[in-house]
Amino acid sequence: MMVDNFISVALLHHSAIESHPWPLLRMMMQTHIHLRLAAPEDIPVLRELIDASVRGLQTHDYTPAQIEGALKTVFGVDSQLIADGTYIVAQAEPAAVDLTRAKSTQPELMIVGCGGWSKRKTLYGSDHWTGREDALLDPLHDAAKIRAFFIHPDWARRGVGSMILRASEDAARSAGFSRYETGATLTGAKLFGAKGYVAVKPISIPLVNGESLPVIHMEKSA
Ligand SMILES: CC(C)(COP(=O)(O)OP(=O)(O)OC[C@H]1O[C@@H](n2cnc3c(N)ncnc32)[C@H](O)[C@@H]1OP(=O)(O)O)[C@@H](O)C(=O)NCCC(=O)NCCS
Repeated sequence: MMVDNFISVALLHHSAIESHPWPLLRMMMQTHIHLRLAAPEDIPVLRELIDASVRGLQTHDYTPAQIEGALKTVFGVDSQLIADGTYIVAQAEPAAVDLTRAKSTQPELMIVGCGGWSKRKTLYGSDHWTGREDALLDPLHDAAKIRAFFIHPDWARRGVGSMILRASEDAARSAGFSRYETGATLTGAKLFGAKGYVAVKPISIPLVNGESLPVIHMEKSA
């Protein structure tokens, strides 16, 4: 099946070991992590994952008020991505969970990260974001959007974000896009910068609680 193929190919191409203090552990864990397309039934688990990811991993980059405000509209599930078949979840086998000593409330495969790409104009925002632009992009002229990456704090810096990013870029390229762009959080910019994205301009996103969220518009050629 085509979807399975795209994910297998993405995993085969993933450069498993990067500069990590425990490269062998990282490699062992990654062999027990699998990517698949997200389904509507995943939404309750994704909501919890996104909440934990933002609260756990953005504390060095944003204030508590920015985080609370952004969780209302900017960070959250974008069900359009799931409906489009362009949103990916990373699942860990119990063997990988044992290696991280993470707590699992899920009996078998555990969702540890999510992220994806889009063929639509919206650059960021959850289902509750009012500035959505669902119009389709033109792959010949527009950059595919890289969207909504969230890794559980127990799984950060283990290459999961990189795996999902590679699969997203591969899928967007297969759909005819030759450029990617993203509205990166200050946290996400560290991943995207390491993967060849360059900053184009700063963006300040107004939040419902009166705060604003600085993010960075970043781009990369396929
Ligand atoms: C940004 C995020 C998705 C990264 O996911 P991740 O799985 O931890 O990233 P990876 O392990 O694949 O990191 C790959 C490389 O990116 C860079 N990187 C990622 N996170 C970093 C950090 N916090 N500090 C410095 N470099 C970082 C490193 O070069 C890293 O390689 P290394 O670990 O071998 O040094 C994750 O931190 C997250 O979910 N953050 C909270 C939500 C968020 O802000 N999402 C981004 C939306 S745009």
